[in-house]
Amino acid sequence: MEVHQVEMVMSAVRESQYPTDGLPEVAFVGRSNVGKSSLTNVLINRKSFARTSSQPGKTQTLNFYKVENQVFFVDVPGYGYAKVSKKAREDFAIMIGEYLRKRVPLKGIVQLVDARHLPSREDIEMYNWLISDDIGLPVLVVATKADKISRGKWNKVEADIKRSLQFNEELSDFEIFSAETKYGKDNIWDWLEARMLD
Ligand code: GTP
Ligand code: MG
Repeated sequence: MEVHQVEMVMSAVRESQYPTDGLPEVAFVGRSNVGKSSLTNVLINRKSFARTSSQPGKTQTLNFYKVENQVFFVDVPGYGYAKVSKKAREDFAIMIGEYLRKRVPLKGIVQLVDARHLPSREDIEMYNWLISDDIGLPVLVVATKADKISRGKWNKVEADIKRSLQFNEELSDFEIFSAETKYGKDNIWDWLEARMLD
């Protein structure tokens, strides 16, 4: 999709604040600082629409971006950030769980992992929860920051990440991505557009 128009429509922490437009939604989840906002910005052709930061834990609400009046991208707060309080982490978990489990317009979930490392315990737990019957939505695992790894290692990175996640080829797909080079952008858009039509 060629994106010309994006609105940051709203931040929500509870169901009553979600949009009511009836457009399909896709959510972006992943460890804090993994690059969710950076991926969103590349997909919508903006340098810094979704706020990016070298400081983890900046995104603390569900942020709904309306793209071309056709779809909402939902930037979900990152997990695994040690410096927030236990209470704040539990509140996040409830907020994210409520959204991912119950949201009817939600058509797919993009889970980002860092291409440089094996998935963390939390990445693995999140992935397994996303593909479980509890949620039951299509999942695209995106291994990001691929510019930090030489091209010759990408196949091994994919194999290692998939093995570590016990990747389910029927319930999920995989793409390598870099926000620096924009590698993978078109494939990710193709995946999103197919989900939006489902
Ligand atoms: P939270 O909102 O805190 O959960 O973080 P986030 O997942 O939205 O991460 P964000 O997009 O803010 O990126 C975090 C840092 O990683 C920033 O310094 C980005 O510039 C950097 N970054 C993100 N994607 C890439 C990438 O593909 N390559 C490289 N080299 N750096 C990246
Ligand atoms: Mg962010």
